[in-house]
Amino acid sequence: MKSSENNNFKFFNKKPIAFLSSIYVYLIIVITTIGLIYVYNLNEITTQTIPPRLNSQVVEKDLPLQEARVIPPIDVFSLKDSLTGLIAEGKKLFEQNCSSCHGTAGKGDGPAGGALVPKPRNFTKTTGWKNGMKLSEIYKTLEEGIPNTGMASYKYLLPEYKLALGSFIRSAFIPNPPEDTDEDLLNLDLNYNLSEGASIPAQIPVKFADKLIVSENNKTEKKIEGIITSIKSMNENEGKKLFYQVTNNQFSALVTLNADQYWKKDQQIFINVIVNDATNNGFNGKVFQLSSTQWDSLFIFLSGQIH
Ligand code: HEC
Repeated sequence: MKSSENNNFKFFNKKPIAFLSSIYVYLIIVITTIGLIYVYNLNEITTQTIPPRLNSQVVEKDLPLQEARVIPPIDVFSLKDSLTGLIAEGKKLFEQNCSSCHGTAGKGDGPAGGALVPKPRNFTKTTGWKNGMKLSEIYKTLEEGIPNTGMASYKYLLPEYKLALGSFIRSAFIPNPPEDTDEDLLNLDLNYNLSEGASIPAQIPVKFADKLIVSENNKTEKKIEGIITSIKSMNENEGKKLFYQVTNNQFSALVTLNADQYWKKDQQIFINVIVNDATNNGFNGKVFQLSSTQWDSLFIFLSGQIH
């Protein structure tokens, strides 16, 4: 009797241990798999085998890459004239972040680039560029990196620094670099929201700035409809008359003005916002015929309607 009790005891005692240890094996496999998936999905920069040397002044050390940050606005067009000032800054940034691969003379022969396929670009050769040598194209390279190569994205650098790097590379290494057209600069501005400045989640690619996307937002839609109704119900006045006169699509005109209200600070900005892309923003060609007193009335009228 006693010995069979003993056997029973052993029997029950062993099984749970075997069972438990198989759970551990299972758990280890699951945790390892999750870990691998996580590591695999980490941002390119963090998995880069040859880590770009970061300048501690440029990247705030305690700021995780994922975190949203505020990017100060930049006027690409006025920058175009003052770029020489940025070139010295670009040289410093290049030595800290790029010369390890691209070489101090920009020939693609830096010590960290030797093993890379494709090799880091030799900036002094003008053929075979993937994005290209214009400032706007180099900006794109820095923003997005070149997929499946050692060229990582540097989107965490402030826009100003990316422009500084591009200007430096162009002036120091590239023989007769092609100039950006006004359209290139405008697109650069639009693609990366440069003149708006912004709070941008650093890891999420900045989508093309289509202001009307905002109208998909129900709350905005309601708000704009509210403004339209209130304008309709107003007594006739000069501002109201002008508003209807210069808009083909009141809704998208108001969406444009509502999206970014920095125009309220300065009438000249207001005029620029409307005139820049008049037909896509719901305005029409009559904006080009407004006198300065009419601009005054329109500005005061719309400032009062949009909050
Ligand atoms: C880890 C090495 C490495 C570092 C660091 C690096 N690059 Fe690159 N870069 C590359 C490689 C590799 C290519 C070539 C990609 C190709 O030819 O497809 C490249 C290509 C480029 C190109 C050419 C893109 C085109 O249109 O073909 C530019 C511009 C560039 N890098 C700028 C920079 C700048 C500016 C920095 C510093 C902020 C930098 N790179 C840092 C490896 C590096």
